[in-house]
Amino acid sequence: MSVDTSRWEEVDRYYDAALSISDPELLHALDRSVDAGLPEIAVAPNQGRMLSILAASMGATRILEIGTLGGYSTIWLARALPDDGKLITCELDKKHVEVARQNLIDAGLADKVTIQTGPAKDSLAALASQNTPPFDFVFIDADKESYTTYFEFALKLTRPGSLIVLDNVVRTGEVANPETTDSRVQGVRACVDRLSRETRVEATAIQTVGAKGYDGFILARIRP
Ligand code: SAH
Ligand code: DHB
Ligand code: MG
Repeated sequence: MSVDTSRWEEVDRYYDAALSISDPELLHALDRSVDAGLPEIAVAPNQGRMLSILAASMGATRILEIGTLGGYSTIWLARALPDDGKLITCELDKKHVEVARQNLIDAGLADKVTIQTGPAKDSLAALASQNTPPFDFVFIDADKESYTTYFEFALKLTRPGSLIVLDNVVRTGEVANPETTDSRVQGVRACVDRLSRETRVEATAIQTVGAKGYDGFILARIRP
């Protein structure tokens, strides 16, 4: 069976226009990221809006993001917050942090967002030790090898009813290959194994195609 991937992009473009998903601030954030030489691996516009709708519909006031890049998904998530809402986003790469900082300022979201620079594990350990109020929504999107660790921190830092979303959990279907030699896919599979044994969450996985290829999300909810 052959798959015409150009059609995936065509449909993403169609809906981006038909549903007015992108706007100048978002496009500006992507332009600056490309100009700065960041990898083009941010979520697609329709995926960003999905994250925003999920966070807004559950009334999230505290959001945690792991993997900022240039702040594209950060902008989508921070827009879902009420005026007094807060988002903390973790990023290792100083250059990515600088680009994201500028993008968040230009998007008028700098007051709602704190960027934690450094290895996410350290930032998450600090948050856990500080007894920070629970997060309503967690978006896990940094190095896939560490997804299990990030998921375990997410469990510690949330409350019953919180939602944990994990990006890039399909990887062209490679996730279904137990013999995979791709360390990123191995990281996702290890996290799924951990998640499957966690009675506190109910989870599903949704495959996606589009401008970002064939991939997918896990949605995991902490049982009330
Ligand atoms: N969420 C972004 C994309 C994130 S890409 C968006 O959709 O717009 C993954 C990011 O995770 C990269 O910027 C990378 O530098 C960062 N990263 C990789 N390893 C990390 C680590 N150990 N700690 C924190 N961030 C890390
Ligand atoms: C990669 C990382 C991502 O977070 C993503 O959305 C797509 C690709 C990567 O490391 O290849
Ligand atoms: Mg991703």
